[in-house]
Amino acid sequence: MSKPFDVGLERLTGRAPDPEMVLGVTVGQRGTFFLETFGCQMNDHDSEKVAGLLHARGYQQVDTPEAASLILYNTCSIREKAAQKVFSRLGEYREKQGEGKVIGVLGCVAQQEGEDIFKRAPWVSLVCGSASYSKLPGMLAQLEAGNQRVTGLDTDTDETFETEVTRRDNPWRAYLTIIEGCDKACTYCVVPFTRGPERSRASDAILREVRQLAELGYSEVQLLGQTVNSYADPTARRMRFSELLLAVAEVRGIRRVRFTTSHPSDFTPDIVKAIEGEPKICDHVHLPVQSGSTRVLRAMQRTYSREEYLEKIALMRGANKPIGITTDIIVGFPGETESEFEETLSLLEEVRYDSMFSFKYSPRPNTPSLSMSDSVSEEEKSRRLAVLQDKQREIQAAKNARLVGEQFEVLVSGKSRRENQWSGYTTSHRMINFASQERELLGTYVQVRVTGAGPNSLAGEHAV
Ligand code: 5AD
Ligand code: SF4
Repeated sequence: MSKPFDVGLERLTGRAPDPEMVLGVTVGQRGTFFLETFGCQMNDHDSEKVAGLLHARGYQQVDTPEAASLILYNTCSIREKAAQKVFSRLGEYREKQGEGKVIGVLGCVAQQEGEDIFKRAPWVSLVCGSASYSKLPGMLAQLEAGNQRVTGLDTDTDETFETEVTRRDNPWRAYLTIIEGCDKACTYCVVPFTRGPERSRASDAILREVRQLAELGYSEVQLLGQTVNSYADPTARRMRFSELLLAVAEVRGIRRVRFTTSHPSDFTPDIVKAIEGEPKICDHVHLPVQSGSTRVLRAMQRTYSREEYLEKIALMRGANKPIGITTDIIVGFPGETESEFEETLSLLEEVRYDSMFSFKYSPRPNTPSLSMSDSVSEEEKSRRLAVLQDKQREIQAAKNARLVGEQFEVLVSGKSRRENQWSGYTTSHRMINFASQERELLGTYVQVRVTGAGPNSLAGEHAV
């Protein structure tokens, strides 16, 4: 899926500069680039930063690979299917190199496959993992000098990826990475390998960026990290994650603060207190459980038991306002028995999540679980996934039906082709499609009354 950036740079810089000039360089003077992104929000945001960096170096972004002199893929390797996609896409661009185009692979597949990419796809000239993006300017210079094989594959960097200009692709919600990499060691996961060790950004740099974003007109910020709540401020202020949330909420102009993804082991009562006490901190927590079986959780090295996880849920359920809770689940982890899978089903019943992402276990290179026998058959994984998703659909349908008649604040982010139909998200991250006679609502906050509900979204009308 291609995600073009549709925001003018003047919007991001706050001034109305000559649109052809950025940081003293003429845009397009060095050539054009096409950047396609797969994967998670971290990848989306990395791409926004890479686009900003290229722009600042005089490259102009274009919408098609045909129009580009530099074709970049920011890749995902979390599951095998995602990684395979990259090579089939690269195959499509084989002949482009002959046309003089430079092709680069960024992100997790780049990190994982390394120089082997040059062997499998010799028409690629740049291979760079996310922990090396801060070195991209130097790599671009090497490419410009005609170097045919440029790599950035270190993961032992203690740097975070800071850029002078970021091209954000959503004009209302700004993503902001506060912690990169991951120090957890879940046995199925490539992230610690592809994104390197955990590095937290300095709290003053984060707050400076939030103030800039607010000045540019962003009212919602989403703090990002693989384990966002493991944030450890490297400055003398030693801000806790919950203190950072509160400080971000205090910035003038900021109306919503979101954060994702939280790790259950670092999910502490002060985070719930911050949500309770500060309405700007959104009432939504994404807390992946992965499995409802303590035995499987141990094999996954998730660092908590079913009971400990449920204590975190109880913290949120005990809050003075409802908190939307969502999760990720893997079915068919090596050795997962039928009764262990049923424990996941019973956990779903117990927690009653507002939504869930679910996946069949996929063995990944360099992960500890690769050496465990992938014992659950593909058919059985598919069956478990379908059963799980059916159960969750039932839960969501019932939960959403109870919201009919309630009113929510919605940040309007979509306009339907159908007349008078709009969409947006509530603070608890529920999608609502709603009707309004207003002519222009994009980017505004409106009150919406829920009039109908399905398992995956709500329908409503503008309440005035
Ligand atoms: N197989 C299946 N799902 C995985 N995830 C991470 N690694 C794997 C894997 N090897 C899922 C987890 C994680 C989400 C982003 O992707 O549920 O929370
Ligand atoms: Fe992967 Fe676990 Fe780190 Fe999440 S916490 S990124 S699942 S290793």
